[in-house]
Amino acid sequence: MRIVLVGPPGAGKGTQAAFLAKNLDIPHISTGDLFRANISQGTELGLKAKAFMDAGDLVPDEVTIGMAKDRMEQPDAVNGFLLDGFPRNVAQAEALDAVLKAEGMELDAVLDLEVPEDEVVKRIAGRRICRKDSAHVFHVTYNAPKTEGVCDVCGGELYQRDDDSEETVRRRLEVYHTQTEPIIDYYRAQNLVVTISALGKVDEVTAKAMAALKK
Ligand code: AP5
Ligand code: ZN
Repeated sequence: MRIVLVGPPGAGKGTQAAFLAKNLDIPHISTGDLFRANISQGTELGLKAKAFMDAGDLVPDEVTIGMAKDRMEQPDAVNGFLLDGFPRNVAQAEALDAVLKAEGMELDAVLDLEVPEDEVVKRIAGRRICRKDSAHVFHVTYNAPKTEGVCDVCGGELYQRDDDSEETVRRRLEVYHTQTEPIIDYYRAQNLVVTISALGKVDEVTAKAMAALKK
């Protein structure tokens, strides 16, 4: 299956993607995680992305599209993938369509996670992520690690993302509404969108998402 996951910052895309990718046996491809890995490795791409991310703005398309395309062309993605955080504007959605078309492939679904803004703010304020692997995501109250500040999965140190400050979150939400939400209409026109409420416990949301994708 080839799936795009869309939803506001803090909706739980990364959290759900980890379970959905495992259930569907496809790789979880998060452009945010790819950028953070590049930043922690000090690559040129990471240096280019950091200032945009810290400001809550989108990293320019010419950097993002090439990185996403390279990842989608890895051998583990030939039979499908779950995209998390890409595409994030209509130009990226068009670029993705062109990549898929060139390979004779199509998307199967766009899963839209709906969460009210006050809940998103609470989720982001309490989020802690692992220094060793930013796919290991916790929340100080909703999904607390067994030992405070320590990753349950790998023992890494947990920290708060630089772009999770109140001011940057406000900007990220604005960018979501103005630049990312239009892709939902773009995909509606292709009859691909399934919308679910992402309120409730993590496993309840996963169950709802799996049921929606099977339809
Ligand atoms: P990215 O990393 O993609 O961030 P985002 O879209 O803002 O999404 P988040 O990671 O904040 O949230 P999430 O929905 O994954 O929620 P999570 O599962 O962590 O992008 C960061 C930046 O990179 C962008 O601002 C941009 O600069 C750049 N970028 C990335 N992709 C780009 C692109 N394509 N083009 C250009 N720039 C790009 O959950 C949040 C918290 O809630 C966690 O603490 C979690 O434990 C908790 N939680 C999850 N589910 C539940 C639940 N059901 N109940 C209670 N708590 C829950
Ligand atoms: Zn970890």
